[in-house]
Amino acid sequence: MTNVPTPLIELRDVSKRFGSHTAIDHLSMEVREGETVALLGQTGAGKSTVMSLLMGTSSADDGTVRVAGADPARDFVALRGKLAVSFQTDRLLPWRTAQENVELGLLLLNRPRAEARERAAQWLQRVKLGDAGHKYPAELSGGMRQRVSLARALAVDPALVLLDESFSQLDHVTSQTLRRDFAEIVREQRKTCVFVTHRIEDALEIADRILVLAAPARVCLELSVSAAQRQDAACMARMHQQIERAIGGDTDDPAEADPSSFTTTEH
Ligand SMILES: Nc1ncnc2c1ncn2[C@@H]1O[C@H](COP(=O)(O)OP(=O)(O)OP(=O)(O)O)[C@@H](O)[C@H]1O
Ligand SMILES: [Mg+2]
Repeated sequence: MTNVPTPLIELRDVSKRFGSHTAIDHLSMEVREGETVALLGQTGAGKSTVMSLLMGTSSADDGTVRVAGADPARDFVALRGKLAVSFQTDRLLPWRTAQENVELGLLLLNRPRAEARERAAQWLQRVKLGDAGHKYPAELSGGMRQRVSLARALAVDPALVLLDESFSQLDHVTSQTLRRDFAEIVREQRKTCVFVTHRIEDALEIADRILVLAAPARVCLELSVSAAQRQDAACMARMHQQIERAIGGDTDDPAEADPSSFTTTEH
């Protein structure tokens, strides 16, 4: 932790309006290389809007958005292959097998067919679906489809992984396993990752830093979580409560936070 990594994502004074509705109001945030950041907040807080700006599927009305130095809404070419996205729905192609779905991203990046086949097989194994490569999405369970989707996103070895509530529609046990696998992969591979979740536990378990957004998307609470804190049940419980309050719109809780126990910034 000696060198300070450069920000891979930078939002500066960003605003986004839909007609007369302001979804993002002068938001600034950074995500450093190798960092995993969780976005939390009430429904309508603007989490998905922030993700769409990062993906380049919509553009800011004011301010600047930079991903790996490029403007994602304009410079698709610079970001090609650097960014992987996984959504709530798995978005697999039903006429392609699991293996072919995972290969697709690599083939679109013009990787040789043999390499695509090999890497796809490796990634299917990594998400514990080594035996299911020949199956079509309709033959897989929801959890298995999510795994294929995750394998497809990660197989291209992206610099940045964006996830919007990918695990929320699965049953508790499956989503827990998938979450653990995901956390492990992200840490092991040192990916930079931004994920949206409604589950505070997920954020505490996976993220290095947690941002709670309040409508119109502005950061109302920022928390850093270290590995040591994750082992400390009392500290986790305090953080959980603090996040819960911030999501509920109550950011004014001086009695709650013990500033010596964790890094926290309230905005
Ligand atoms: N394409 C759009 N057109 C008009 N309004 C939109 C559009 N997309 C989002 N909004 C509005 O912007 C605000 C933020 O929406 P956003 O989808 O980012 O919220 P969210 O935090 O992702 O919510 P959820 O937790 O329910 O997914 C909401 O008030 C929403 O109605
Ligand atoms: Mg959303």
